[in-house]
Amino acid sequence: MARKVFNSPAYVKPCVVDVAHKLLGADNWVFLDGKAHVDFRKGLNGLFTRRALEIYLPGQEEVYNRYFKDFVQMTKDAGGKAVPFMPAFREIITAVSCRTFVGHYISDEAVKKIANDYYLITEALELVNFPIILPFTKTWYGKKAADMVLAEFAKCAAKSKARMAAGGEPDCIMDAWIAQMIHSKKWRDAQEKGVTIEGLEKPTHVLRDFTDYEISQTVFTFLFASQDATSSAATWLFQIMAQRPEVLDRVREENLQSRNGDIHAPVNMDQLESMTYTRAVVRELLRYRPPVLMVPYVVKKPFPISETYTVPKGAMVIPTTYLALRDPEVYERPDEFDPERYYTGDAEVKGAKNYLVFGTGPHYCLGQQYAQLNLVLMLGKASLLMDWKHHATPQSEEIKVFATIFPMDDCPLSFEDRKW
Ligand code: HEM
Repeated sequence: MARKVFNSPAYVKPCVVDVAHKLLGADNWVFLDGKAHVDFRKGLNGLFTRRALEIYLPGQEEVYNRYFKDFVQMTKDAGGKAVPFMPAFREIITAVSCRTFVGHYISDEAVKKIANDYYLITEALELVNFPIILPFTKTWYGKKAADMVLAEFAKCAAKSKARMAAGGEPDCIMDAWIAQMIHSKKWRDAQEKGVTIEGLEKPTHVLRDFTDYEISQTVFTFLFASQDATSSAATWLFQIMAQRPEVLDRVREENLQSRNGDIHAPVNMDQLESMTYTRAVVRELLRYRPPVLMVPYVVKKPFPISETYTVPKGAMVIPTTYLALRDPEVYERPDEFDPERYYTGDAEVKGAKNYLVFGTGPHYCLGQQYAQLNLVLMLGKASLLMDWKHHATPQSEEIKVFATIFPMDDCPLSFEDRKW
């Protein structure tokens, strides 16, 4: 039933709370529907290809190297005691997203500020909200935070345009997009003039030029879509790995081998993809603790959802990812975390239709490959550089919902440098 909703764009479209239009801009691409949405999305696909994702890896390694040192320091500062790490995971994910999306055009201070203020944006999206933004309410703080991020990203777009026009090499999503715009413009100009330029191939998708603000708005949607979900996944990943040292040891071994024994060696896409055990761990983690439990859609015209029921126009219909991911016919012992089902088992094939972690249909997650490989990179590096302990409390397995899901106790952890 959930798949049916996701796959029925003739009847439904994503339904966001009213304040989302105010935070992201009413003219944002994510609110487009039908052909306009499909066309815009096609223009973004090139930013998430395998080749593009490889360009972003060095920036991500840089962030992890820096923040993992901070993790160890946080424990030292707490005198070796456990610290609730959920806020630190939110920050590291913001930092890695900013580096991936806007490269070095943004200052470390701005990243820190975005990481702190992003909390306000998530908070502002609480389902209860007024149709107008009242000063000093959550939505007012959220809007201020969103405007700050949009302004920062617009400045980055201007800098990226200048660097790409001067022939710089792309190293972030914004660069990759702008480089494609420049390529498209050359192609369009040549077509108009009817000339052939040697070496100038037709772009896979011919783009128009986008303004700094439009670029900022679009990149903001990537941050918006990734921040809560990836922070949730990262938090559970570290908790669950600490609880299962035998799994973490296998991850560590695979990562060490892939780097030929050098714990500091950077990895490329081939290496990341070849780490099948670590990938199975991430895949299972997302099944076991799916960050996005529900995706609200709104019905555009009467929707015969079953033989006996037609959802009326205007109603909300909310597919959940959870039940398909706990289907005991597909996943034996569904409430157990078991990466073997993806490593040696047949969960990938058997559960091909069940894996709704990233949705399905025309709005399926644009960043799903990136999100998974990024978690593989994060876990692999962490396993080589650090040891960590989870200090379980009675609330560790209780789930709280803050846009996505988190352990109720915010994941108390302690870290130290790994002694080899
Ligand atoms: C573990 C992390 C993530 C999870 C679990 C997740 C999950 C989802 C889900 C369930 C949807 C709705 C799909 C649908 O309606 O069919 C979605 C949409 C989306 N996601 Fe993700 N996501 C993650 C990370 C990311 C990242 C890192 C990015 C960007 C870099 C991203 C970009 C998007 C975008 C742009 C959409 C909207 C697509 C559209 O409407 O066409 N996501 N994601």
